[in-house]
Amino acid sequence: MPTCFAPPDRDGIAPELKAAWSAAPPPDDEGLLALEPVDALVPLTYRSVDALGRMLPSLVCAEESAVHVFSREGDRLGLSDESLIASQRLMYQIAREEELHEILLARLQANLPVPQDFDAVRRKARWLFIRAASPNPAIHFYRISELDSGVCQIMTALLQPVCSVRQILSLRRQAERIRRDEAGHVRAALDHVSRLGLPHAQKLESAEVIRSELIGLLTYIGDSFEVLGTDPDRMIRKIQNRKIPER
Ligand SMILES: [Fe+2]
Ligand SMILES: [Fe+2]
Repeated sequence: MPTCFAPPDRDGIAPELKAAWSAAPPPDDEGLLALEPVDALVPLTYRSVDALGRMLPSLVCAEESAVHVFSREGDRLGLSDESLIASQRLMYQIAREEELHEILLARLQANLPVPQDFDAVRRKARWLFIRAASPNPAIHFYRISELDSGVCQIMTALLQPVCSVRQILSLRRQAERIRRDEAGHVRAALDHVSRLGLPHAQKLESAEVIRSELIGLLTYIGDSFEVLGTDPDRMIRKIQNRKIPER
């Protein structure tokens, strides 16, 4: 059962896109899918398990949304111009990585308690990702670069030495893998924005809006970060103050 967005119907895509989609195989999961999520939770306190359970819906929602964003952009590029085939392939590869993240996080979520305010968390997360969309792909992908950079900061917060997530090998490996992939997505999204073209003023405006919306969601679940032993204020400051890339 999806948290925010049902997976895209990839069987129903245009026949001319099918071969390109099939040529983007799922990425190597580096053994992460073989790990038993429930084993990872055994050393955690009840409070930490609850805190993780409150954090996961937003992260799963982000990944579900990202699968749509990157697969749709691959479709759009593939149908518009044959010279964009390399860009299309990259979009599909990233969509496959987002699928892997979604599977890993949803498996973990399925072993965690459902937070009391699940509906409120889900509504806020869903709204954030719906609002990130734009009919202008340059604006949309600029916002995606901001959100993926935010996911990197969340993973960095969870990988602080004092954080419970960092101390459990399988959780640490998942967070490291997601952070590494997301850093690649930020670069790919910004390259894509450069190709599409977006004035600097619009980048500043987009960053301001999307950062404040992301920070709103993170502030709402901020106490979960504290229970896990990491500092949400530091993470939020890093998101707020990140330099706007000059390109
Ligand atoms: Fe992801
Ligand atoms: Fe991503």
